[in-house]
Amino acid sequence: MRNFSIVFSVASLCTTLTVATSTAGCGNALASGITTGGTGSSNEVNFTTTKGDPRTFLLHIPTTYTPDIPRGLIFSYHGRGKSGSQQERRSKLSESEFNPEMLVVYPDGINKEWQGDPKAKTDDVGFTLDMLDSLGKQYCLDTDRVYATGMSNGGGFSSNILACDPKASKKLAAVAGVSGAYYQGTTEDDCKPASVPIPCNGRTPFPVLEFHGTNDGVIPYAGGPRRHRCLPNIPHFVTDWAVRNDLGSTNHSKSLYDGGVTRYTFGSGSSAGLTTHYKIEGMGHTWPSAGGNYSNIDATPLIVKFFNKACFDGI
Ligand SMILES: *[C@@H]1O[C@H](CO)[C@@H](O)[C@H](O)[C@H]1NC(C)=O
Ligand SMILES: *[C@@H]1O[C@H](CO)[C@@H](O)[C@H](O)[C@H]1NC(C)=O
Ligand SMILES: *[C@@H]1O[C@H](CO)[C@@H](O)[C@H](O)[C@H]1NC(C)=O
Repeated sequence: MRNFSIVFSVASLCTTLTVATSTAGCGNALASGITTGGTGSSNEVNFTTTKGDPRTFLLHIPTTYTPDIPRGLIFSYHGRGKSGSQQERRSKLSESEFNPEMLVVYPDGINKEWQGDPKAKTDDVGFTLDMLDSLGKQYCLDTDRVYATGMSNGGGFSSNILACDPKASKKLAAVAGVSGAYYQGTTEDDCKPASVPIPCNGRTPFPVLEFHGTNDGVIPYAGGPRRHRCLPNIPHFVTDWAVRNDLGSTNHSKSLYDGGVTRYTFGSGSSAGLTTHYKIEGMGHTWPSAGGNYSNIDATPLIVKFFNKACFDGI
């Protein structure tokens, strides 16, 4: 039996833990009509960005919420063609078993896609920063514990766009990409998946977690040309993150689940695992879930555990 209650105590083991930085929303009672609870109890929010664009998102507030304790916040982005409510069901981040105390936002993409997709034209970084700003005024958030995760295009938006944006990366503590689409360049001609340049202008070091299946037929593990862009192979994508994080390019691998999963970590000592990748043998384009067909591994509790580590003293 798994016991996720340890997530509350993990952070306190870290000597570098700083005092929570609380937002203006601390002290505010929940507005009338706002509900708490698991999947299906989240709040549909109509939102207007500072640029005046109408957007929507689903907001999960845990039943444990009280306005006097600053909470972490996770942005969970759907895959291309999906919606925020589908992402809530897929990522299970509204389930108290996996995430007992953080708020979760499941935004809806314009045309069901995110910035970073070859076709997307929206400013989803701006949308994200506006949501964060607005939510901090209404809810009691800890600005040191804001995270992003997502599936496919949503994973690419988290780990390749938000984490590489100078402004957004300073607001986020960590990201996790699941079967992420990390499109590079402006053409698929001459695509070299092992060496395609990955421009990134975010703050470093920046904690990044990645999950990918070796049988992914949509965003292949080996990368390659796709939709007029070049996809890096996954080892190149994660090793580039490790190098940017000053962890070097040498990974440490650990075989899990009788070889069905290999975990690659970079760094050592207090930085060990600051860049981590789970390679899942035979898994297709999906969110790893022990209840699914492809893997023994559940991405969601690993993501929450990664996010909850206030310092990285080895995983
Ligand atoms: C959001 O906007 C839609 C479309 O205008 C409307 O049907 C819905 O009631 C609004 N929801 C909230 C919570 O205001
Ligand atoms: C880990 O290192 C080995 C040896 O250099 C390399 O073949 C492999 O692609 C690396 N894996 C990742 C995920 O970086
Ligand atoms: C597992 O595979 C079966 C047959 O392909 C499919 O019907 C089912 O939806 C899958 N279940 C999950 C959880 O992916």
